[in-house]
Amino acid sequence: GLVTKQSKLIGLIVPTISNPFFPELCRGAEDEANKYGYSLVICNSDASAEKEERYIKILKEQQVDGIILSSQSGLSSASLDRHSKNLHYVLLDRMEREKVPGVFLENEEGGYLAGQHLIQLGHKKMACITGPESIKNSRDRLKGFKRALKEVGLEPTIIREGDFSLESGYSHAKEILENENVSAIFTCNDLMACGVYRAAHEMGVGIPQDISVIGFDDIPLISALIPKLTTIRQDTYMMGRKSAELLIQQIEHGKTDFTIFSPTLVVRESTAYVK
Ligand code: RIB
Repeated sequence: GLVTKQSKLIGLIVPTISNPFFPELCRGAEDEANKYGYSLVICNSDASAEKEERYIKILKEQQVDGIILSSQSGLSSASLDRHSKNLHYVLLDRMEREKVPGVFLENEEGGYLAGQHLIQLGHKKMACITGPESIKNSRDRLKGFKRALKEVGLEPTIIREGDFSLESGYSHAKEILENENVSAIFTCNDLMACGVYRAAHEMGVGIPQDISVIGFDDIPLISALIPKLTTIRQDTYMMGRKSAELLIQQIEHGKTDFTIFSPTLVVRESTAYVK
């Protein structure tokens, strides 16, 4: 038979290496890859379609055995289709598509859990700082949040579109805390919750006595926050591991598979009963 030489190299493309969520994914993927004798090459695309395209090309030239793509641009999705005939790949976290090998989170469920938690604490006027509208993850989180509120006849009073950065959480929180009458803020990731903390601190607004805050992700960094952040946890490390496992199964056994992880509510100190 035909003997194809393996490089034992896997490429992993992430959209924003500066967001601590992604190093955690990489760590998981690397640990799993190493277990099977593979090494990982990590590329940062800045969520730019051009950079993604270039990295996919370079990784193929380097003859990686496969690519884990944690990306979001429509263009890379199209280019993946073009490349997919002679490329093993697994999608991870973003750019969810039907019937493709991938590892994703039940994002809608995560938003729902956040809404339900705040409702149980008696909150009625709630704000949501979302991720970018263009990313399905963030749309689904907001959708789930709204569904929980709708079940009890409520609506999020305030919705602001953030971009998953600390800075966007900060500026939206400043505006919300200055102008709006809400008792809770759900941020669609933890970095934006960090921004809310900064705004609240500067304005002398107490968490959770004046405002409850709930995040999303459970990145290790938030253990330094005071009070400890209540959040919707993704098992990011295990999602990273799973993506490598699925890719290696594909490379070695031609098996393509799909895994959906469930988020969990982690109650800490930043959410409290409404006054
Ligand atoms: O914090 C970064 C966010 O973008 C995470 O919630 C992750 O799911 C990603 O899509």
